[in-house]
Amino acid sequence: MRIGILGSGSGSNMQAILDAIGAGTLDAEIALVLSDVPGAYILQRAENHGIPARLIDCRGFKTRFPEEAQQETADALKAAGCDLVCLAGFMRLVKQPLLDAFPDRILNIHPALLPAFPGVAAWKQAVEAGATESGCTVHYVDAGMDTGPVILQAKVPVLPDDTPESLHARIQVEEHRLYPEAIRLLQSERRL
Ligand code: GRF
Repeated sequence: MRIGILGSGSGSNMQAILDAIGAGTLDAEIALVLSDVPGAYILQRAENHGIPARLIDCRGFKTRFPEEAQQETADALKAAGCDLVCLAGFMRLVKQPLLDAFPDRILNIHPALLPAFPGVAAWKQAVEAGATESGCTVHYVDAGMDTGPVILQAKVPVLPDDTPESLHARIQVEEHRLYPEAIRLLQSERRL
């Protein structure tokens, strides 16, 4: 299975998928990494591992992820032979025509127990809401914000002295385990 990754940040979840492949616990290959953020560390990480990586430039458009850029993304993923697309810290909403190009083949990892705390900085939302438990969710991507069907979740406690950063760090440990596990689960159930 050939995976395409979209990310806007450091790419630690991409690294976790790569590590699972390297450890032989995930039968896949990362074929392409795309980022909307110039200089994002995820691009550097990919290059360090010899994975083709490039910027999808969304600057100079009126909308955050314009149709032209979504088409360019879909074309690049198809050209790389990707059969699964994993959003890993990707900060733009995927819509048409990208959604249509990979029906039921786009996954996302979200740092909360959806449907709780969708949207940005979910770890901060959880601390500010006084939640005693949070976690992470791997789900299918649909046209909404963090609304697609849930595949797997992992819980972590929110401790009384947690800051948004300390909670995010605890959630990320679980994310790095959960994302490869969710892909493996879909493969084993022949849902991919
Ligand atoms: C993760 O916490 C992910 O759940 C959220 O953004 C963060 C990305 O981290 N959507 P990384 O780029 O994978 O390190």
